[in-house]
Amino acid sequence: MDLTHITTRAQLQAAIEAFEGCTLKASAKRMVFADGDPNSRIVLIGEAPGAQEDEVGKPFVGRSGQLLDKMLADIGLSRTTAGKGGVYITNTVFWRPPDNRTPTAAEILSCRPFLLKHLELVQPKIIVMVGGTAVKAVLQTKEGIGQFRNRWLEFDVPNVGKVPTLATFHPAYLLRNPPAKKDAWADLQMLREKAEELGLLPTQATAA
Ligand code: URA
Repeated sequence: MDLTHITTRAQLQAAIEAFEGCTLKASAKRMVFADGDPNSRIVLIGEAPGAQEDEVGKPFVGRSGQLLDKMLADIGLSRTTAGKGGVYITNTVFWRPPDNRTPTAAEILSCRPFLLKHLELVQPKIIVMVGGTAVKAVLQTKEGIGQFRNRWLEFDVPNVGKVPTLATFHPAYLLRNPPAKKDAWADLQMLREKAEELGLLPTQATAA
């Protein structure tokens, strides 16, 4: 797929809307592109839209999204903040899989050029792969998330360069397995430290 002519997010969104190469499109109500501030330098990649996302057209608006927002707030990040302290959120595929099943390797592959173009346009300084499907989609691996958590990886974004990249558990998994929240908390601390180091957190007001 040649996406070299695409230079803006609006063009990318239009290209995805017009795309007929992902079988998920037929059963979904609408395309789910992204949420948050595109000028923020932290990009989160989730798995796929669910029922509520399919209704609303935004990623992570259901229960998983509420937990994700709460976790981000704990380290001073929010999708409703512009610039520093903000995050931008998208998914590996842009349409809801039937019955919320995991997207197949073929579905992920069909959408991957758009995901890479999205990253190229947003130029993140940090990428967070939220859940095992995002890890598979971004890194093109069959290995589980456990192989990649707890350390900073580098992902080479085409036409941008190497970007520090972190894997963490999907909030839907944390809702099913609350004991894993301890590990997710450790991931969040790594994210907070890196964001601070790169000047991506709002400057704290210093006490007089
Ligand atoms: N889960 C995801 O991975 N993405 C969404 O947009 C919603 C739930």
